[in-house]
Amino acid sequence: SVEVVIVPDAAAGGEIIAEAMADLLRRKPGALLGVATGSTPLPVYRALTAKAAAGDVDVSRARICQLDEYVGLPAGHPESYRSVVLREVVEPLGLDEASFMGPDGSAEDVPAACARYDRELAEAGGVDLQLLGIGTDGHIGFNEPCSSLASRTRIKTLTRQTRADNARFFDGDIDQVPHHVITQGIGTILEARHLVLLATGEAKAEAVAQTVEGPLTAMVPASALQMHPHATVVVDEAAASRL
Ligand code: GLP
Repeated sequence: SVEVVIVPDAAAGGEIIAEAMADLLRRKPGALLGVATGSTPLPVYRALTAKAAAGDVDVSRARICQLDEYVGLPAGHPESYRSVVLREVVEPLGLDEASFMGPDGSAEDVPAACARYDRELAEAGGVDLQLLGIGTDGHIGFNEPCSSLASRTRIKTLTRQTRADNARFFDGDIDQVPHHVITQGIGTILEARHLVLLATGEAKAEAVAQTVEGPLTAMVPASALQMHPHATVVVDEAAASRL
């Protein structure tokens, strides 16, 4: 079953997950860390950066990989997930782009880029720890409700709700939010050795309750964590309020 850790606030969630990452890197300096975008994981990256700066953990051999990506944003767009992960994770940790892997959202042949990324993750030895956020509809990565629980990295169409949720990164303008994305599939995500989902705030409470206590169902993609042998959900009091 899914292990639930309730923390007082987002900063404490960031600290506890950063410590899990640091602990992993102390044991396995070249570990492959899967990172997520959105606002929720930012305290994790800040806490890990602080630990590295304090000499608490050597992150110099860490490898970072991306969970998902928008399709069709121009290269270098500040809100492409590649740009976000470089800015929020790779650069603050002092890593270079060679230690970073992600799907190519501007590929001519998107299905081929998806298959290639799925293969690259496996060839890199698999993800050691995958950090996840959760959408208000229970999505992980960009696996919207009804995604196959066995899915591999592939192209998906975003729901209107997810585009509305993410419009804040695009000047609040939903029309600027891409319709299509590449996401690691649920089956791909489940191959990571440790899954850590962080959710904070009341808006995530229902999705968290469905994830942890609801039935295993493609209607709530995050419920797939119930199938994983080592899945941890870290929630603040507000996100835990319906448990
Ligand atoms: C996007 C990302 C997800 C993320 C979700 C929630 O849809 N693809 O990986 O979990 O946003 O974002 P936030 O943490 O900002 O609520």
